Amino acid sequence: MLNPLSTAKGPIGVFDSGYGGLTVLSSLVQQLPQHDFCYLGDSARSPYGNRSFDAVYQYTLEAVQWFFNQGCPLVILACNTASAKALRTIQQKDLMQLAPTNRVLGVIRPTTEVLGQYTKAGAVGILATEGTVQSQSYPIEIEKFYPQLKVYQEACPMWVPLIENNEQEGPGADYFVKKHLDAIFKKDPTIDLLLLACTHYPLLEQKIRQYLPSNVQLLSQGQIVAASLVDYLKRHPEIANRCTQQATVTFSTTDSAAAFDKQAAHFFGAPVSSREVQLMPPNC
Ligand code: DGL
Repeated sequence: MLNPLSTAKGPIGVFDSGYGGLTVLSSLVQQLPQHDFCYLGDSARSPYGNRSFDAVYQYTLEAVQWFFNQGCPLVILACNTASAKALRTIQQKDLMQLAPTNRVLGVIRPTTEVLGQYTKAGAVGILATEGTVQSQSYPIEIEKFYPQLKVYQEACPMWVPLIENNEQEGPGADYFVKKHLDAIFKKDPTIDLLLLACTHYPLLEQKIRQYLPSNVQLLSQGQIVAASLVDYLKRHPEIANRCTQQATVTFSTTDSAAAFDKQAAHFFGAPVSSREVQLMPPNC
C-alpha cells in the first residue's frame, strides 16, 4: 500500500536548531510569497554546533519525521550544522523508509554552487560552527564546483550563544567577532570573500562589518537558498505540485513558545506566534 505521507500536499518545512533558520525563511517568504511554510526550531536542544555527529543526525531525523507527519512534501534544513552532519544519511538511507517521494534539501550545496562568482582573489573564508568546520563539507563541496579556489575555515563557537542570548551588540560580540576575523585573515590576508556559513550569523552582520577590510565581501545564505529553491521547484513539478499555496507561515518550537516568539521576531524581521511541540524518534 502506498505510504500516505508520500502523496500528501502541504507546506514547505523549514528546520533549524533554533532561530537561525528564520533568516533563511524570511528570504524564502520574499521569493515565494504564495507558498505555505512551516518552521520548526529545536530550541530545547540548540545549539547543535558543538554536538556529536550522532546527536545532530538523530535530532534532525526526528525533525524530518515531524515535518512529514505535518504533511510537508519538502523540507529545507536551514541549518548548516544539520546539513553537514545529517542530510546525506537522511537522503540516502532514511527517506526510503520514511516517505520515498518526499524530499529533504540543505543549504550547503546551493551555496557552494555559486560561491566562486563572488571572489576576485580566489580566496574564500568560511565562518561556521565547530560541527560544520569539522565535517569538511564546505571544502569538499566547493572543490566540486570551483577546484581552483583557496578555502579557509574558522569555527566561531561563541557566535551562536551570543546571538541566541541577544548579545550581538554587547562588548562580548566585539571581542569574539574580532578574534575570529583576525584568525581567518591570518590564514590568508588575500581573502576577499567571507561566507556566513551558519544561518545565525546574519544577526552579527553589522558587528562583523565594523571589523572588515573594505575590499572583503560578506555573503549570507538567505537569498542564495531562496533562489535555488525557486529553481528547484521549476525543475521538479512532482514536488512543486504538492506544495500548497495559501500564503501561510506557521512556527513551532520544542521549547517555550513565549520565549521563542520574543527572540524569533529579531531573526524573522516580523512578529512571530509559535506553538510548542515535542519531537519523537521516527516511527514512534
Ligand atoms: N544555525 C545553525 C547553522 O547554520 C546552527 C547553530 C547551532 O545550533 O549551533 O549551523
